[in-house]
Amino acid sequence: MEAVKQINVGLLGLGTVGMGVVKIIDGHQEDLMKQTGNRIKVVKALVKDINKKRDWTRSEQLLTSDPWEILRDPEIDIIIEVMGNIEPTFDYLMYALKQGKHVVTANKDLIAMHGAELLAQAKESKCDLYFEESVAGGIPIIRALVEGFASDRITKLIGIVNGTTNYILSKMSEEGRPFEEMLVKAQELGYAEADPSSDIEGLDAARKMAILSNLAFHMEVHFDDVMLKGITQVTQEDIQFSKQLGYEIKLLGIAKLNDNQIEVSVQPTMINKEHPLAKVNGVFNAIYVYGEAVGETMFYGPGAGQLPTATAVVSDLVTVVKQMNLGVNGRGVIPPYRNKQLKSDDLIESSYFIRLKVVDEVGVLSLLTHPFADLRVSIQEVLQVPANEEGKAQLIIITHTTSKAQMNQLIEEINALDVVDHIYSIYPVEEGEAE
Ligand SMILES: NC(=O)c1ccc[n+]([C@@H]2O[C@H](COP(=O)([O-])OP(=O)(O)OC[C@H]3O[C@@H](n4cnc5c(N)ncnc54)[C@H](OP(=O)(O)O)[C@@H]3O)[C@@H](O)[C@H]2O)c1
Repeated sequence: MEAVKQINVGLLGLGTVGMGVVKIIDGHQEDLMKQTGNRIKVVKALVKDINKKRDWTRSEQLLTSDPWEILRDPEIDIIIEVMGNIEPTFDYLMYALKQGKHVVTANKDLIAMHGAELLAQAKESKCDLYFEESVAGGIPIIRALVEGFASDRITKLIGIVNGTTNYILSKMSEEGRPFEEMLVKAQELGYAEADPSSDIEGLDAARKMAILSNLAFHMEVHFDDVMLKGITQVTQEDIQFSKQLGYEIKLLGIAKLNDNQIEVSVQPTMINKEHPLAKVNGVFNAIYVYGEAVGETMFYGPGAGQLPTATAVVSDLVTVVKQMNLGVNGRGVIPPYRNKQLKSDDLIESSYFIRLKVVDEVGVLSLLTHPFADLRVSIQEVLQVPANEEGKAQLIIITHTTSKAQMNQLIEEINALDVVDHIYSIYPVEEGEAE
């Protein structure tokens, strides 16, 4: 009988996700063996602080604080990187790929910044590089984009890809409480970090949208290409008015392709409350994919957490081992092959919600509509309500589709009107239609 070949895995990082990976590999050993024909074993794990107290029942000998013990070990076939950060991680992974080791990584920051270089090195070294878990934790969206939609042309993605902000916004909507209070609640529950800026400023979601757009449109999309606005300015009043008009406010990542040009954004957006994404609440993630042939599909599930993320890591690991057995590693690596063309502001289109404080007197509405008429921005709906200040009123306007360039001009002109006291907020409005 042929001996079962053991595949040796080196873990870079043994924190939340790393421990989950070990649990799944150990707990599913028999299934993994059936699926791959191999015994898969974690033989070494890199940590920062070797003396840290951790839930680790295996030999202490398996832990190291020296990365080279793993990276230079010729017996280690696959590196799983779950330590985070860009440096020194990027150098470690480049080295590993150059040594012919396959890599699975959960590191969205690294993939968003250096994905193209790592993929190019993987291709050159005939190695696999997988990163399913870097976006939307337990949802297999990357595999869906790369394999499931390989024959289709994706024209639009809408994603709720940050659980922390989705928790805060859905709680603000359900409980009618302000942003600051819901942020503290998210921190108490462990959904938000002590320094929450990467989540609430939209940076985390922007990195994930850069990765998804890259794969969907086959263009080298960078973090800097993403138009970005966080949720810190979203007020309870905005949420209440949007509900009144039939919308929910979500931090949406939107990526669109029209005539070979793309736009990618992450910003608080009003989405029609009948759209399935409006019903994605709490820390859950969801990605809505529009394909020319397939039409509309939606992927929904846990966006983070130890076991959902670790499951995605181990699924990537299974793919790598299967490909090792077939001798086809690195063949599936497809670096971006289309030239990136970003749309200019006059081609980026949306409807908008504008909430403003005006002087409460006869003729204001007529004055206010002049800039709209001049710039040919048509109004879909207007709501007038009293402001909490004598002699002032609030106007809520929803426009029909207009370009970002026209919108910027319109806001400048409205701001210059004497009857306008203050523009509280502006949100894009998404009805969820295909492009
Ligand atoms: N947590 C999630 O739900 C989730 C979801 C999706 C993706 N991810 C991604 O997965 C990665 C890991 O996240 P995590 O939550 O598991 O992080 P974590 O709990 O902070 O664990 C990080 C691990 O890496 C080790 N480490 C960090 N820097 C190191 C260095 N310079 N040298 C040696 N070891 C180092 C740490 O060592 P010590 O143990 O000694 O401190 C720790 O074991 C990140 O890229 C994250 O963005 C996480």
